[in-house]
Amino acid sequence: MSELVQVRREGAVSCVTLARPEKKNALTSAMYQRLIDAFDEASREQNVGAILLTGSPGVFTAGNDIGDFLAAALAASAASGESAGGRFIRSLAKFDKPLVAAIEGPAVGIGTTLCFHCDLVYAAPSARFSMPFVNLGIVPEAGSSLLAPQRFGMAKAAEYLLLAEPFDAETARDFGLVNAIVEPAALYAHALAKAQALAAKPREAMLATRRLLRGDPTALLARMDEELRVFHERLRSPEAREAFLAFMQKPKG
Ligand code: COA
Repeated sequence: MSELVQVRREGAVSCVTLARPEKKNALTSAMYQRLIDAFDEASREQNVGAILLTGSPGVFTAGNDIGDFLAAALAASAASGESAGGRFIRSLAKFDKPLVAAIEGPAVGIGTTLCFHCDLVYAAPSARFSMPFVNLGIVPEAGSSLLAPQRFGMAKAAEYLLLAEPFDAETARDFGLVNAIVEPAALYAHALAKAQALAAKPREAMLATRRLLRGDPTALLARMDEELRVFHERLRSPEAREAFLAFMQKPKG
């Protein structure tokens, strides 16, 4: 089986690519674990100055694998232990080097919420962001219940997290979630050049500046814990189970 998360170096940048296009890069537990390992490696490795995170042509990610959600919902152990997704979210928030994302097509769920943790995000015109947690009977994660109102204001956050309305690349750029919209043919090279520029800066000053920009993480980490607590309750709810089953049983298109 080819790697569903591919990691390779481009100079001082660790390029992490989601590579499960036949399932729209839906993220399984094994993929989260590979992402955690890639983030850990990049953090430890002196020669790495930044991560560039990308998806496949036409799709960033469809978010968490809904089959995995259903399995977790049905498993007795869902009540305890932290999921790989939960651990990935924590490693994302705690990652200490610059993180750049290049996004084409759907960026669903964690595909959108991880953008709040990126330093720079570049999007193709096809990018489509959505956080449909409530539609699935679950709640937001990755601190997005805190970060979305901060970034968008409460009115827009309600449209995106309560109504679960998607938004496009231009809207994301207007709200500052996305730095620039770049044609797909140039997107990867553009994002890589920016990641390389970050990696080439004086390292300690870069990391210290990044910490200052982000400020004290205590409130964010506490919110993430609270989100995950409610998330695991919701995962076992009849609402969530029905929503997962409805997706898994939809006719093949
Ligand atoms: N989990 C598991 N499988 C998924 C998936 C997910 N999150 N998203 C897509 N897939 C699978 C589909 O079941 C389909 O599999 P199949 O070919 O075996 O039938 C395949 O990926 C292609 O998806 P499809 O829905 O046909 O593609 P599309 O281009 O019409 O739509 C999306 C793309 C991303 C808009 C749509 O797949 C979608 O809405 N996915 C669910 C997103 C979601 O709710 N994620 C959870 C967020 S918390």
